[in-house]
Amino acid sequence: MSHQLLRLQRKNPKRIIGLMAGTSVDGIDACLAEITGNGTDTKTNILDFETYPYHAATRSAILEACNPETGTVDKICRLNFYLGKLFADAAKSIANKARVPLADIDLIGSHGQTIYHVPDSPAKCPSPQHENEIGWQGSGERGKAWASGYRGRSTLQIGEPSVIAQETGVTTVADFRPRDIAAGGQGAPLVPYVDFILFRDRDKGRALQNIGGIANVTFLPPDCGIHDVIAFDTGPGNMIIDRITELITNNASHFDEGGRLAATGLVNKRLLDSLLAHPYLVKPPPKTTGREEFGRPYADNLYRDAVCSGIEGPDILATVTVFTTRTIADSYARWILPRHPISEIIISGGGTYNTTLMKFLVQYFPSSVTIHSISTFGIAPNAKEALAFAILANETISGNPNNIPGATGAKGAVIMGKIIP
Ligand SMILES: Nc1ncnc2c1ncn2[C@@H]1O[C@H](COP(=O)(O)OP(=O)(O)O)[C@@H](O)[C@H]1O
Ligand SMILES: [Mg+2]
Repeated sequence: MSHQLLRLQRKNPKRIIGLMAGTSVDGIDACLAEITGNGTDTKTNILDFETYPYHAATRSAILEACNPETGTVDKICRLNFYLGKLFADAAKSIANKARVPLADIDLIGSHGQTIYHVPDSPAKCPSPQHENEIGWQGSGERGKAWASGYRGRSTLQIGEPSVIAQETGVTTVADFRPRDIAAGGQGAPLVPYVDFILFRDRDKGRALQNIGGIANVTFLPPDCGIHDVIAFDTGPGNMIIDRITELITNNASHFDEGGRLAATGLVNKRLLDSLLAHPYLVKPPPKTTGREEFGRPYADNLYRDAVCSGIEGPDILATVTVFTTRTIADSYARWILPRHPISEIIISGGGTYNTTLMKFLVQYFPSSVTIHSISTFGIAPNAKEALAFAILANETISGNPNNIPGATGAKGAVIMGKIIP
């Protein structure tokens, strides 16, 4: 390790910026935190946080890049560098907002913008027998191997970290997910490691439920060790709600502000039951999902079928809002509650602001379960995942493995993240 990186590793506390752009494609979340220590001794102090929304044209370009039919290599190549610039701008802006000179920022941890994620286990795909865990063919067979299709896992986050490091002059850690996939995992979910560090409790069984475009849970049994953590994507979060809102408002709104439109609709039981038949929901963890499964094509089909059946727009929206909450509650019933009681659910992500969604969610749990926003812990609901990537970068620099194999399915603990000094 270079002298500069060794000095950075030893610095305590560090000022670290975490950058996150989720599957909602709403913008870049930036969080500046002072982080003391590392591993289970990590302490954090959030100095500032902000979401920098994507311009409508940028959002469209990203959504095009996510779609195999429109995401051409030239677009992805250029978008990678353009988003690198936007991430760098977000880092500069949050430092400026917090009145911390860029020269005093020690590290940036950047998740990037996911444009494609293939978490499927190769074992479940009809693949040649001599493929190994991540799907590579045996030696000397590469040409033939590709012809028969690489069916292993893969993932692609863009927002070139070299641009971030160059523009800011700050050491940047990025591209966390591929290392976990290389180690046999799904490359997701990654935030559970941070949940374990920050939220494990001696006496309480805690569920941390993030509701972004996709919704994911980390369950921490009382007094748990890292191997006891249960974590997986519960299913769609706001992704379907956002698209249905666009369709019923003729693109006037991109999300259902406060859940107000859904509150005017009635849940259609038949539609809800058909949505609940989605195979992802009964798949056992480890499991992760994304725009490939619950993105635009899924929502557009759902909408068309519902309209053909005579269901009104607000009723469709109310139904997909309940669908998200049911997938969360049903996941707990299937994969957590048979093994552990839950005493507390801590909600984060943009879904926290959808009051209708939150009201529906509360209905599925007894009053003995405390359900509250992560803001109770001094963390803004949208800041959590950005903070998580600041902490994951600190772990990379500290030389600590930062995946949870039990959550991602990896064969072992690995240090994720590429370092641009
Ligand atoms: N005031 C609000 N009312 C309702 N929904 C909101 C509000 N603010 C944010 N959201 C929802 O949160 C989403 C963004 O959540 P976020 O946690 O950033 O997800 P991701 O990590 O997928 O980007 C928006 O697309 C929207 O659906
Ligand atoms: Mg977001």
